[in-house]
Amino acid sequence: MAENQTITLSFPEPDIALLTIDAPNNNVNLLSRAVMDELEGHLNKIDARGNVAGLIICSGKPGMFIAGADLKEFITWIDSTSDEVISVARRGQQLFSRLATSDYLSITAIDGICVGGGAELAIWCDRRIMSRSDKTSYGFPEVKLGLFPGWGGTARTPRIIGLSNAVELITGGESMDADAAQVMGLADDVIEAAGEEVAERLVAAGIRMVRAEQLSGDFRRDRQRWSGPISLSETELGFLGATASAYIQGQTKGHYPAPMAALELMLGATSVDLMTACEMEATGFAELFGSAINRSLLNVFYLRDRNKKDRGIAGQATPGKIGSAALIGAGIMGQGIAAANVKRGIPVTLNDACQDALARGVQGILSEVSYNKKSRQADVNRTLEMAPLVNATTVDEEICAADVVIEAILENPAVKQELFARLEPQLRKDTILCSNTSSIPITTLAEGLKHPERFCGLHFFNPVRKMPLVEVIRGAQTSDQTIATAVAYAKTLGKSPIVMNDGPGFLVNRLLLPYMNEAALLLSSGVAIRDVEKAAKAFGMPMGPITLYDVVGIDTCVHAGQVMLDAFPDRMVAAEITSKLFDAGRLGQKNGKGFFDYNRRKKGKGQESTIVAELIEATIAQRQEFTPEQITERMFFPMLIEATRIIEDNLVRDLRDIDLALIFGIGFPPFKGGLLFWADSIGAATLLEKLEPYEALGKRFEPTGVLYELAKDGKKFYDLAENTGSKP
Ligand code: NAI
Repeated sequence: MAENQTITLSFPEPDIALLTIDAPNNNVNLLSRAVMDELEGHLNKIDARGNVAGLIICSGKPGMFIAGADLKEFITWIDSTSDEVISVARRGQQLFSRLATSDYLSITAIDGICVGGGAELAIWCDRRIMSRSDKTSYGFPEVKLGLFPGWGGTARTPRIIGLSNAVELITGGESMDADAAQVMGLADDVIEAAGEEVAERLVAAGIRMVRAEQLSGDFRRDRQRWSGPISLSETELGFLGATASAYIQGQTKGHYPAPMAALELMLGATSVDLMTACEMEATGFAELFGSAINRSLLNVFYLRDRNKKDRGIAGQATPGKIGSAALIGAGIMGQGIAAANVKRGIPVTLNDACQDALARGVQGILSEVSYNKKSRQADVNRTLEMAPLVNATTVDEEICAADVVIEAILENPAVKQELFARLEPQLRKDTILCSNTSSIPITTLAEGLKHPERFCGLHFFNPVRKMPLVEVIRGAQTSDQTIATAVAYAKTLGKSPIVMNDGPGFLVNRLLLPYMNEAALLLSSGVAIRDVEKAAKAFGMPMGPITLYDVVGIDTCVHAGQVMLDAFPDRMVAAEITSKLFDAGRLGQKNGKGFFDYNRRKKGKGQESTIVAELIEATIAQRQEFTPEQITERMFFPMLIEATRIIEDNLVRDLRDIDLALIFGIGFPPFKGGLLFWADSIGAATLLEKLEPYEALGKRFEPTGVLYELAKDGKKFYDLAENTGSKP
């Protein structure tokens, strides 16, 4: 096999061609331009050979068919003209369409991931065989990048599985397993994945299919049928269009145009033949490719990819293995973190100062891990399987035998330090000690420790099962080894860890609080709650900041706000209204009254409160008028300025960590690419102009050095990314 060759052609039987895709030196198969050229060369060879009854395309990598187009190559075309993009799409369509017009029957034999461009290659084949493996997943995730399939996916799929199924698959962007694919008519055969030689059995099933189809000639009839328009009545089309667009609008809130564009394209292409539908697809694809939203979502893809590969340190320290964990504090966070361990088969020792809390903790963990997502209820088998992984104890020896000890007790430095002083002498030399504190400086907590190098912050977010972010906080003396272990461990739990230096509010709270505080200050300038909420949601936040106060708890917010006030008195301004609510006993959703009133029967949805309106009214010194744009700027500029201070203080190792942390930690809109990515889309010079009118509001709106520098040099934040922050 030639070096760097991804596809090999062989003939397991004289009239059966087999293409095996196996990218060298890579654990994924991608459709780069070079691989597409290789495919073309092989199809030419097969045509030249003649007398081929069937072509089977499979992968040489177990569990990995094709993970899509090569996005690294993709990004190099981002500034291409529309004509260039159309021609790339057309070329892919024309190449793949040879599989649907060849003399032979074409089959893809899929074991593992088959998404994006891989799913398009497969849909152009006459037939698809899949393995019933946990890894097998078929789908079109393009909408998650602000695109839709451009190599014939939108044209071919509705013709094979029906318009309604295709709309669901392509506009939703979710993948399905082999059984679901078979039900939908995407998989023509499914083979068991258990046992050895899945690839050989897939190919054998393919050969049997070739023999049967050559006799029946079914595939030729299907080709005929799939090359024409789709027959649907106006009524059926109208109904599907109305229901699907309402659903998409509900899901995307109008922020993500690709699913709607895909829907309109597919509806519009029902009346034309397959090749015309492909032309329409290429033109539509070019309109989305390179758009602001496409660029933002590609950035998020890269941020995630970078995070997956990031070891959290610049040096070479090898992470220690975590085979067991101990959780001290069996409350909300202790339970959530413990459950995350148990779900991944890591045994947990749970401890709490209060016996009742310990018992409730075990119950909480088991109830979470027993939940079966498929049946949507508790699964006794899961309980029986996982229960032995939870050990509730009050014995220090048992706690200290774990590879990682995580503290999630009361938020009080003295109590935490006392606990550490008791446990530290009993810990093994290779055990790391972590605190889940949300606000106490890690360096302060490390003060009494004999081995502060083995201690770090491991800040999970609530609810742990839903929130992917974990802040890994490096105290002044934390070692690389500890950080590397904490990062690897968080990834084992399925989380996305971001390493940062110790600092007030760490990363997320330091940026979230100025934003929430500003929202509360706006109320005292006479802006209606609903206008504040509307502006944040129009920006793309998952919920308004006022609702967020109630979700987090007013008491927690007041406490966290105080931490920020103490740390940065030069620029933080206390929002009077939050203390007033706190004093009035309005703690948020937890006690049914916060900024909104909550009725237990109407779960979650708050009603405006006249008491709160009066409390707000009393704080308004001078009522002002604001446009929606001004409201948005008032909330997000302090967040941005604070982020530039985080960069200047060298708190993050790479400024892109700020963007990922906010997307994962507070749901900052991915379609904006991240806070700094969004700022880059505005540009530093324009930002300086936009900040000017807010000068009188104080330092929280004052541009920082880095912003002036960028404006002066005509640069972007992302230009600084590679060399920002040496070692945190
Ligand atoms: P919680 O009040 O639900 O649970 C704390 C548990 O710790 C209680 O069961 C208590 O009995 C136990 N405890 C107190 N002192 C103890 C001691 N000396 N030894 C053993 N157990 C002790 O608290 P929650 O919300 O789980 O918070 C725990 C920690 O996690 C805090 O540091 C908090 O700041 C932090 N955190 C909380 C988040 C949240 O949203 N609740 C989010 C992220 C961090």
